[in-house]
Amino acid sequence: MLVNLKTVLSLAEAGGFAIPAFNVYNMETVMGAVKAAEELRAPVILQVYPRLMKEEAGYYLSPVVVAAARKATVPVCFHLDHGPSELETTRALRWGATGIMLDGSTLPFDENIALTRRVVDTCAYLDVQVEGELGHIGTTSDREQDEFTRPEDAKVFFERTGVSCLAVAVGTAHGRYKKPPKLDIDRIKAIREATGGAALVLHGGSGVPDEEIKKGVAAGIRKMNFATDICYAFLDACKEELERPDRAIAIDNFMKRPIEAVKAFCMTRIKLVGADGKVK
Ligand code: 13P
Repeated sequence: MLVNLKTVLSLAEAGGFAIPAFNVYNMETVMGAVKAAEELRAPVILQVYPRLMKEEAGYYLSPVVVAAARKATVPVCFHLDHGPSELETTRALRWGATGIMLDGSTLPFDENIALTRRVVDTCAYLDVQVEGELGHIGTTSDREQDEFTRPEDAKVFFERTGVSCLAVAVGTAHGRYKKPPKLDIDRIKAIREATGGAALVLHGGSGVPDEEIKKGVAAGIRKMNFATDICYAFLDACKEELERPDRAIAIDNFMKRPIEAVKAFCMTRIKLVGADGKVK
């Protein structure tokens, strides 16, 4: 069933686990992620980068995500990932997103707060909730590590914006790591405490050691993002399939193994964040 961000976050908070948030890129990655969630009876977030919500991609992919979420037998939130401005967040609402991320992390603190607050207020008309970002989470190819989120700033940001969850910079980055990251667990705990228990979001989940993720969830991570490793699971399976002498040529048949590969990867992450068996 298609549900909003608040619904999945409250399940995570009540159960002390994190909602796995899988970035999806096409119908097949949607199918793999939903199959995994249904098999393990897990609530899940399917999230989409803003570039996939504009032009043809937006027209085609968003309806696929909404249809999959409506048909699913577990709660599925359709979330915009890293919306940079009100143009993208409004467009995502038009496409039926039930969760919105406004990423104002590269703006000055007060501007980030003001923009995030406006988006929170607009989304509230539609019973859609917002994820904000404070302390920029860059990519693994960035030369310098950005400043980590400061608990005292997080408190002000959380109170003034009204976000339902907050992405924090605590040691992760987007993409493939050159060496496995170590999370600043004390900082996660301190931000949780300063904000009175805000649901925290960890970006850059691909390649983070399992033990680190477990510690992060125990410290208060309630939404855990995975994108790059979904791409690898899908593309590596496509490559293997291409090399098989008896491979299918009909694309729907060819895609069966890549869909299964995405499903298998998502199942490992669902279990890791403790989301399995959380819905009937
Ligand atoms: P990875 O691509 O590193 O898994 O990051 C995913 C993410 O945080 C999407 O916003």
